[in-house]
Amino acid sequence: MNQKESKALKSLKPPKDDRMEKLVSLCKRRGYVFPSSEIYGGLNSCWDYGPLGAELKRNIKNHWWNEMTCRRNDIEGIDAAILMSPRVWEASGHIEHFTDPMIDCKTCKGRFRADHLDSSRCLRKPSKTPHECGGELTEARQFNLMFKTFMGAVEDESATIFLRPETAQGIYVNFLNVKNSSRQKIPFGIAQIGKAFRNEITPGNFIFRTREFEQMEMQYFVHPSEDQKWFDYWREQRWAYYLSLGIKESSLRWHEHGPNELAHYAKAAYDIEFEFPFGWQELEGVHNRTDFDLGCHSKFSGKDLRYFDERFTEKFLPYIIETSAGADRSLLAVLVNGYDELEIKGETRVFLRISPKLAPIKAAIFPLVKKDGMPEAALKLHSDLKKKFKVFYDHAGAIGRRYARMDEAGTPYCITIDGQTLEDQTVTVRDRDTMENPRMSINSVADFLTEKVS
Ligand code: GAP
Repeated sequence: MNQKESKALKSLKPPKDDRMEKLVSLCKRRGYVFPSSEIYGGLNSCWDYGPLGAELKRNIKNHWWNEMTCRRNDIEGIDAAILMSPRVWEASGHIEHFTDPMIDCKTCKGRFRADHLDSSRCLRKPSKTPHECGGELTEARQFNLMFKTFMGAVEDESATIFLRPETAQGIYVNFLNVKNSSRQKIPFGIAQIGKAFRNEITPGNFIFRTREFEQMEMQYFVHPSEDQKWFDYWREQRWAYYLSLGIKESSLRWHEHGPNELAHYAKAAYDIEFEFPFGWQELEGVHNRTDFDLGCHSKFSGKDLRYFDERFTEKFLPYIIETSAGADRSLLAVLVNGYDELEIKGETRVFLRISPKLAPIKAAIFPLVKKDGMPEAALKLHSDLKKKFKVFYDHAGAIGRRYARMDEAGTPYCITIDGQTLEDQTVTVRDRDTMENPRMSINSVADFLTEKVS
């Protein structure tokens, strides 16, 4: 190949995808996500949500909770303890089966998931995979992902308990309690949001795979003869849910688990995947768990978990259709989906196009200048709006700079009080995405925001 051809080929190469680096940096700068225990050098793959991140995560969880519980008559919410009887994990199969194959490299001392070798990096030669670097690899061995700790003062086998690796089990062990107290009839569901812990061998990709994370899980109890119908129903619902977060449909796809991928409890499973900068990856799983879970808990606890009401001729163990989403992964998908850059007057400007209903700050309120009664009017509006919305007041710097800071923070609206406001009680409301800046009556701003964020 001559020099000219090689140059032409180079120009055909796609530009380096550095969106993750830029996003991680933006998250730190704007207060979305910080490295955990940063002043002590951080802790591998542990992250803290800052002021905007905590707000965004809360909005995502609230949206899920509203969709799954408040707007439905057939799903109840619970909040079970993280620490559960160790018998739960025997019954569920996690002690026996919740393992990943692990390989050690005797040369670089790295530990890798045997099934992720192609995407892992040698610790000594990060440009190479553990296959390529020439290091001596051990045979794969199974590694249980549950974190162990001790309950009480004595640290022995009998005091061993586990941090839950999924929230689902808290739902199964409360099946009878919820059914009896809520008087729900099959089909019905139980939903829960909470922390889960997995001692992942290769955490990484920012908040995508961590050892402490939050799940949003719903277990729907159905008659065994109707499992396929409800499985299809929940697949449809969950797809629509991600669109309702403002995620582009072209960034979503289904992945059906083949026989070798199915978890020990599942008869059928589909993942909803999102196209992250590091590739297509799972956001949520929809599983047909059959009567595996209630069957195991009946056997291990000795309690009859079968269901009966007058519509059926005999008692039966309900099948479970599970929808299991990660709050942290949803948040990362919302950030990736919203990240945008524009060249404006020779400057690269960053926009986080997060839907108004999820945006951490709904509106920023600016006096155009710091005089002539504008700050007072802006503070009055801020004080009125903050009773209903998360809003932000800022009078520092040129108005263009203030807009730019809010665009990068993901704030959908910027409301400016100017000279005209004091004459006719109107304000400008700038839209982050269209950059249009219409005037409206100061009294209609609250209704405008209500409509946009609901
Ligand atoms: N109860 C079923 C269950 O836990 P899973 O596919 O292992 O199924 C469900 O997990 C969801 O939990 C995943 O789709 C993902 O969003 C989230 N998740 C799982 N492991 C995670 C990790 N290490 N870090 C962040 N999120 C995780």
